[in-house]
Amino acid sequence: MTKEKSFMKLLITGGAGFIGSNFIHYILKKYPDYQVVNLDALTYAGNLENLKVWEGDERYRFVKGDITDMTAVGPLMEECDVVVHFAAESHVDRSIMDPGVFIETNVRGTLVLLEAARKYDKRFHHISTDEVFGALEPGDKPFNEETPYDPRSPYSASKASADHLVRAYFHTYGLPITISNCSNNYGPYHFPEKLIPLAVTNLLEGKKVPVYGDGLQVRDWLFVEDHCKAIDVILHQGKIGETYCIGGGSERENIWIVKKLIEMLSKDESSIEYVEDRPGHDRRYAMNYSKIERELGWRPETNLEVGLPKTVEWFRENESWWKGVKSGDYQKYYEKQYGK
Ligand code: NAD
Ligand code: TYD
Repeated sequence: MTKEKSFMKLLITGGAGFIGSNFIHYILKKYPDYQVVNLDALTYAGNLENLKVWEGDERYRFVKGDITDMTAVGPLMEECDVVVHFAAESHVDRSIMDPGVFIETNVRGTLVLLEAARKYDKRFHHISTDEVFGALEPGDKPFNEETPYDPRSPYSASKASADHLVRAYFHTYGLPITISNCSNNYGPYHFPEKLIPLAVTNLLEGKKVPVYGDGLQVRDWLFVEDHCKAIDVILHQGKIGETYCIGGGSERENIWIVKKLIEMLSKDESSIEYVEDRPGHDRRYAMNYSKIERELGWRPETNLEVGLPKTVEWFRENESWWKGVKSGDYQKYYEKQYGK
């Protein structure tokens, strides 16, 4: 284990999104001396409501800006000690409809950040996904840090490209980087076009839940707070140049998740609507997190039996948050995706 580091000022990209905003809450609560600058373009997925409690706090500053714009990125990089890079187009279904913006933000945006980090010699932590490794079949061993890249959607291809660039900056320029590849997150502030928040909010509204194909695809669910803790240990104790796989140890078929939520919300299986499958739908993802467990002492603490009720409770208590998100442009997306 390397010596623990400390960073006074963190540049967080994409901090108004789901995982980024959870991470900002986590860091500002845990480290009273730390400051956070949140650079976010506020796309459809960015929501300043997520961070309302920090407005006016001198340790937190929001800057509206695009990571592809060096004039926005450069000065912020110069004033911060470390960048934690969450900003991305993050939804596979949207990448199937319109891949261009995924390349622009996820690849070119990452390149701009890397160039700025190189200029000012800053520590760079890159947030990536298990989807870069492709798809598993039932019985295959979970992905680990040695698994060859095999991205299969425009989203995962763009994230894989970004990962390669980050690694290239380490090998070519000696930039002090780390990368984490995590499995599917869930929890508070999850944008309701992803499976769990879509299902919970549709059920709360008395609507059906669209299940793609046979619903037997498997995801490895990671409670978002566990993910924040993993990033925290990598930032402070991770070895420069290394990649860490982060999983929830909670593999479930999609239909299991949907049926569980139906039970928790006292609905019945007439709420399930099987719809056309996603093109190129990856069958199964699963992560072997033994490297981060062995080297940095992290393991997931919240299993689905605890995390799902916490998540449902959060959505029950924050109806105005998700109703706000589900109005306007969201409706247009929903109609395009599900034909209603
Ligand atoms: P999200 O879609 O909820 O949030 C993304 C944020 O990035 C938004 O606030 C958005 O406004 C911002 N953004 C988008 N384009 C931008 C740009 N050009 N410039 C500045 N800001 C921009 O995403 P998330 O679910 O919080 O995911 C965060 C990161 O974690 C992403 O890099 C994603 O690939 C990765 N990841 C997510 C999951 C998951 O389950 N959600 C799993 C694995 C990896
Ligand atoms: P999603 O939350 O979009 O995450 P990812 O595609 O990154 O894994 O989807 C999780 C799983 O749920 C995936 O197998 C697709 C499936 N899914 C549905 O069956 N219905 C839905 O309405 C959505 C959004 C996803």
